[in-house]
Amino acid sequence: EQSIRESLFITLNFAKDHFIENLWETDEGKSIGLSYFKERGFSEETIKRFDLGYALDQWQGLIDAAKTAGHKDEFLEQTGLKIVKEDKSYDRFRGRVVFPIHNITGKVIAFGARTLKSNEKGPKYINSPETELYTKSKILYGIFQAKNEIRNQENCYLVEGYTDVVSLSQAGITNVVASSGTSLTEDQIKLIQRYTKNVTVLFDGDKAGIKASMRGIDMMLTGGLNVKAVPFPEGEDPDSYSKQLGGEAFKKYLDNNAQDFIAFKTGIFLKDGGDDPIKKAESIREIVQSISLIPDPIQRTVYIQECSRLLHVDEETLISETNKLLLKNS
Ligand code: UTP
Ligand code: MN
Ligand code: MN
Ligand code: MN
Ligand code: MN
Repeated sequence: EQSIRESLFITLNFAKDHFIENLWETDEGKSIGLSYFKERGFSEETIKRFDLGYALDQWQGLIDAAKTAGHKDEFLEQTGLKIVKEDKSYDRFRGRVVFPIHNITGKVIAFGARTLKSNEKGPKYINSPETELYTKSKILYGIFQAKNEIRNQENCYLVEGYTDVVSLSQAGITNVVASSGTSLTEDQIKLIQRYTKNVTVLFDGDKAGIKASMRGIDMMLTGGLNVKAVPFPEGEDPDSYSKQLGGEAFKKYLDNNAQDFIAFKTGIFLKDGGDDPIKKAESIREIVQSISLIPDPIQRTVYIQECSRLLHVDEETLISETNKLLLKNS
């Protein structure tokens, strides 16, 4: 007897294959979906590596194909592929390019789907809802494709978006996963920790990205990870910037600009605050707060020394402020 979970996996896999077939074999898929990916610079090899696909612009394209292939309707609903509203049911993903989300063993558990319209009112990406198989906060996009490389390279690049993962991977940076736009969770950090202790954060060069990276960095420090970050110019993300620079120059950019979290945070605070003493005091407090999250006392000491150097504050002050926070948190 097939368990329900197995049936859900089979249905999701059917949907993945259906979207792939749409992309490569149908006129609509080729002229709209495939050419969209190619305009973004994705090679055929890359498109295949990530199982990218296309959902036809029809209300029941997938529902009909699944029925013909003998898949039960209830599984389409339980995997979030079919939306049921009153007496109507229709495909969740329509007229969009599709990014399957794989679990660590490589089975598809959900999808993200991007609109092809550049100035639409609706959401840019539509994602599968949470289901029995898919808990958003427990997975990272790209982990299946990246896990061995993360272990080999002893580092994990963390980006925000689907296309960042795909582009970096194409540029040869294959140890990369995405938080998919939501704030990082403890479970996601634990998932990374299965493979490495070292993370380099590559979040978008916009307000939201900077805010998310600050918070993500603190969470990872709490988990005992070694955290670095690379700043991007305003308005750029790893996908756009890797395309602007080209793969090789982008790799150099990462190597030359990866900073430990203190230098990264200091850089951002100084850019915002300049020489304003009040802003500077706030920045020092923020950084001391981050240092106090690090579980290892020796690492804390090293970072206090660096903070002292970069911001010209004496170590004694930093040590006593850190200790106050440690007491408060204990
Ligand atoms: P971004 O807005 O940075 O998009 O959101 P992006 O990844 O750079 O996409 P492109 O380059 O415009 O195609 C980052 C991530 O946040 C999630 C997606 O996972 C996206 O990749 N997101 C964003 C959503 O789930 N829904 C949205 O409407 C927007
Ligand atoms: Mn963004
Ligand atoms: Mn982005
Ligand atoms: Mn982008
Ligand atoms: Mn903080």
